[in-house]
Amino acid sequence: MHIWKVAEVERCFRVKCFGYQVIMFWCAFVVFFLALGNELHLSHATEVSVNNTENKLCLYANLMVNFSVAYEVGVNKSESVLFVLPENVTTEGSICNNTTSTLKLGFGDGHSWAVEFTKDNKTYQVDSIVFTYNLNDSSVFTNSTSNETKSVTAKPRITNVGVDTYYSCKSENVQRVESVTQTLYDVTLQAFVTNGSKSDTDTVCTADLTSTTVAPTTTVTTTAAPTSTPTPTLPTPTTGNYSIAPDFNSTACLMATFGLRIGFKQGDKVETINLVPSATEVGGACGVNSSILILTSDTITIMFTFSNDSKKFHLHALNVTVKPATGVAVVAANTNMSIWVAAVGSSYMCNKEQTLTVTETLTLYTFKLRVQPFGVEKGEFATAHECSLDDTSILIPVIVGVALAILILIVVIAYVIGRRKTYVGYQTL
Ligand SMILES: *[C@@H]1O[C@H](CO)[C@@H](O)[C@H](O)[C@H]1NC(C)=O
Ligand SMILES: *[C@@H]1O[C@H](CO)[C@@H](O)[C@H](O)[C@H]1NC(C)=O
Ligand SMILES: *[C@@H]1O[C@H](CO)[C@@H](O)[C@H](O)[C@H]1NC(C)=O
Ligand SMILES: *[C@@H]1O[C@H](CO)[C@@H](O)[C@H](O)[C@H]1NC(C)=O
Ligand SMILES: *[C@@H]1O[C@H](CO)[C@@H](O)[C@H](O)[C@H]1NC(C)=O
Ligand SMILES: *[C@@H]1O[C@H](CO)[C@@H](O)[C@H](O)[C@H]1NC(C)=O
Ligand SMILES: *[C@@H]1O[C@H](CO)[C@@H](O)[C@H](O)[C@H]1NC(C)=O
Ligand SMILES: *[C@@H]1O[C@H](CO)[C@@H](O)[C@H](O)[C@H]1NC(C)=O
Repeated sequence: MHIWKVAEVERCFRVKCFGYQVIMFWCAFVVFFLALGNELHLSHATEVSVNNTENKLCLYANLMVNFSVAYEVGVNKSESVLFVLPENVTTEGSICNNTTSTLKLGFGDGHSWAVEFTKDNKTYQVDSIVFTYNLNDSSVFTNSTSNETKSVTAKPRITNVGVDTYYSCKSENVQRVESVTQTLYDVTLQAFVTNGSKSDTDTVCTADLTSTTVAPTTTVTTTAAPTSTPTPTLPTPTTGNYSIAPDFNSTACLMATFGLRIGFKQGDKVETINLVPSATEVGGACGVNSSILILTSDTITIMFTFSNDSKKFHLHALNVTVKPATGVAVVAANTNMSIWVAAVGSSYMCNKEQTLTVTETLTLYTFKLRVQPFGVEKGEFATAHECSLDDTSILIPVIVGVALAILILIVVIAYVIGRRKTYVGYQTL
């Protein structure tokens, strides 16, 4: 963004070719616009890239960390200080190896924040975060009685990140160890980068997936949905991998992976239940015009019917039976659905929670969904058509666009007013 220097702003005030109103409006708007820009980048993220010995990208991070540290300022007296991981950090001491990596960010007077990664065949994880702080830095730890350098080791739960994907977590991850509280948020992290470039695919943290503020709603029928939301105490359902092969020796012809929760009415109350993949049997069949996936557990039987409309497929019907341990069984079917649409030969994907209202009495919630009911080759998902709901980053361009439109409008109006005033002024002189 263009930085306005004092001289330029002054010149802006001095320009006489427009009426003063225009100048005032313009300058006010520049201030407003700069403030807006600041608003959007209110907290400054720390972005770093580390290259390996062959000078290829091997570690990438873009994140924000807030620290709260309690330290002694006298006998039995302590104070706490809040600070953020600055934008400018050094990466000295970062190491990239085949199965272990360290991202070490140095900042200020002898402070550092180091993330240790390990990798196995298909996934990598963060083993620990070591935060080292120098109590001798009086600009941060004013009146500290100690001049030591201390370290705390946090073990955040950042696991099962797919190799060649980046870990993404907008939600806050709070780590409390001894007298230090670290809050990580808006985190993008990739270790063991392959081919020297950051991956396009992400592994989203569970906190982001269950976050109700971003949960989209796909209403399939217009009939009233169960009004109460599912009990929040239920954990996110485990993601199951389901596939169907035409016979023993063939690879899959239908593949699906998702976590599933069902909300159903029992009288006036809404109960929720998660499908447990390890206790679920998979059945179904692949056809030319229609494919079926049937999942059966102790309490849940669910049948998905997909249609092939020559170029595109969609989920056409759902038939769900829930037999709760107590209470009455609920059967719900909807044979007129048109969701999960994608081209035949590709897959449909929706990482965020999706809500499907099957009937008035029964609602499905899917998590980390990916399905391909037709044309699966080599037992792998084809390219994905992503639900538009996965993209929330669209908001910022919209805000900037609207602000720009208002700017232009105001400048034009102010110009017109300014011209009229000036004109009237000359007339009277
Ligand atoms: C982090 O600290 C900044 C500055 O003190 C504050 O504005 C922001 O709200 C904090 N964020 C979190 C997630 O604690
Ligand atoms: C400091 O705290 C300890 C234990 O809490 C106590 O025994 C000691 O008397 C306190 N010292 C002062 C100077 O208050
Ligand atoms: C740290 O403090 C101790 C005593 O409090 C002092 O002896 C030592 O010289 C100090 N070290 C530094 C590097 O300031
Ligand atoms: C599967 O393959 C094996 C050998 O590759 C063959 O003996 C067997 O008959 C095949 N089974 C079916 C159902 O095609
Ligand atoms: C699939 O649908 C097409 C057109 O709707 C039809 O001509 C064809 O016979 C159907 N194939 C099967 C196997 O049902
Ligand atoms: C989908 O249907 C069209 C005709 O309706 C057929 O040509 C095509 O082979 C079908 N695709 C698959 C993967 O079965
Ligand atoms: C749904 O499944 C139940 C039990 O299998 C069956 O009785 C019912 O007819 C099915 N409904 C539809 C619309 O397919
Ligand atoms: C199915 O949905 C379509 C459009 O949403 C509607 O025109 C049609 O009447 C529905 N059919 C049934 C049987 O509900």
